[in-house]
Amino acid sequence: MAERRVDPDDGVAYTWEEFSTFYAGKYKKKAIEAYWEECEVKKGRRTKAVAKAKAEAKTKKAEPKAAPKAKAKAKAKVKAKAKAKAESKEVKSAGNFKVCVCGGAGGIGQPLSMLMALDPNVKELCVFDLSVAMVPPAGVAADLGHLERKSDVKGYVMEVGQKPIDNLKECLTGCDLVLVPAGMPRKPGMTRDDLFKVNADIAKGIVEACAKFCPEAVLGLIVNPVNSIVPAMAELYKKKGLDPLKIVGITTLDVVRANKFSGEITGKNPNYINVPVIGGHAGTTILPLFSQDKVAKTIDAEKIPDLDKHVQDAGTDVVNAKSGKGSATLSMAYAGARLGKSILAGLMGKKRIECAYVKSDITDLPYFASKVQFGEKGVTKVLPLGELSDYEKKRLEEVKTQLKTEIDSGLKYAEENSLAD
Ligand SMILES: NC(=O)c1ccc[n+]([C@@H]2O[C@H](COP(=O)([O-])OP(=O)(O)OC[C@H]3O[C@@H](n4cnc5c(N)ncnc54)[C@H](O)[C@@H]3O)[C@@H](O)[C@H]2O)c1
Repeated sequence: MAERRVDPDDGVAYTWEEFSTFYAGKYKKKAIEAYWEECEVKKGRRTKAVAKAKAEAKTKKAEPKAAPKAKAKAKAKVKAKAKAKAESKEVKSAGNFKVCVCGGAGGIGQPLSMLMALDPNVKELCVFDLSVAMVPPAGVAADLGHLERKSDVKGYVMEVGQKPIDNLKECLTGCDLVLVPAGMPRKPGMTRDDLFKVNADIAKGIVEACAKFCPEAVLGLIVNPVNSIVPAMAELYKKKGLDPLKIVGITTLDVVRANKFSGEITGKNPNYINVPVIGGHAGTTILPLFSQDKVAKTIDAEKIPDLDKHVQDAGTDVVNAKSGKGSATLSMAYAGARLGKSILAGLMGKKRIECAYVKSDITDLPYFASKVQFGEKGVTKVLPLGELSDYEKKRLEEVKTQLKTEIDSGLKYAEENSLAD
């Protein structure tokens, strides 16, 4: 028996023959086919008598009175379909992304480049670094180029003192995602301000080049101090007329640590734990919301302050364990790649929720880390904080006081600087 589909216009099921005969001459064949594709397939059998009656009804619909309504509806459907098609063009297909890792030959950059080269969604990976990096970026690219994956890996190098905007046209053009672990890790004796000054200038050079060559790309900033660098770069983007939400501070390592440590305490697999971490990305500004995860919320209330501190101090624990010879690189690369993959999935139209530090209006601070929805354009929604425990509410006040000062440093930098054309 021929397949029948229900025309939403009158709720009756028709064969293709009946359907196309009715609309023939009113619309182009392609439009009729598109409308047919949208109609639901009728399940179950119809009796001959019913079929006959409905087919007759359909023929009658061709009479002038019924036609305008049906026509308008069909037109609207076809239009909606065309719009959906046009929109879907903006969504990239799987396996088609260009990604750049700036600082890609560094401690975080190398494993991060590897994880992104392994992502089946990455078609082209650019590894960018300075000529003074521990290995030439071309070497990292040659090495990664032997992985049995389809990604094409290219290295780009720049001399110290030169500007990315003058060197990165080929590297950045067409990029969908730029991950930035370029910059100095904090050295003993360095204040947060010293680090900010050095790394903000490095980040600015890269962001300036992105604004010129890939203004639609999402920029994932790993370079510290994230709490100040992100507001500085996002405001510079805004000043240039670009979308500040393209600048995303990567705080995923805090989430990864909160999940892992909750798993250790409860004896549960951290893979199934998802503790949102809000606020900022340094010291007391890191606020894990253990109360919002079904496993972590079972942890005794008296253990929470220590667990919270464990997450806050985890970076220092790694520096100490490495005897000051480096900071978190492998876990950071893992976390950066987790976020990077989610961003690419979002760009493909598969929405993902991850915590990130972005321009925000969910608190009274202009930048804040919280759950964020990633979609076709990058950040598509900044989600509210949800319910907090009494302990978390108290900590939130501490977070805000500290974070405000660090955001202000970033805003001041953006006021005093601008991105070149
Ligand atoms: N967000 C986080 O959770 C997190 C965690 C750990 C480290 N970090 C930060 O990430 C950054 C990198 O840390 P790392 O351990 O990989 O350091 P690293 O020194 O091993 O690597 C940094 C790389 O950046 C490169 N670089 C410096 N200036 C550059 C420029 N102008 N253009 C391109 N490349 C440039 C260097 O040559 C080097 O290869 C630091 O700022 C660190 O504080 C962030």
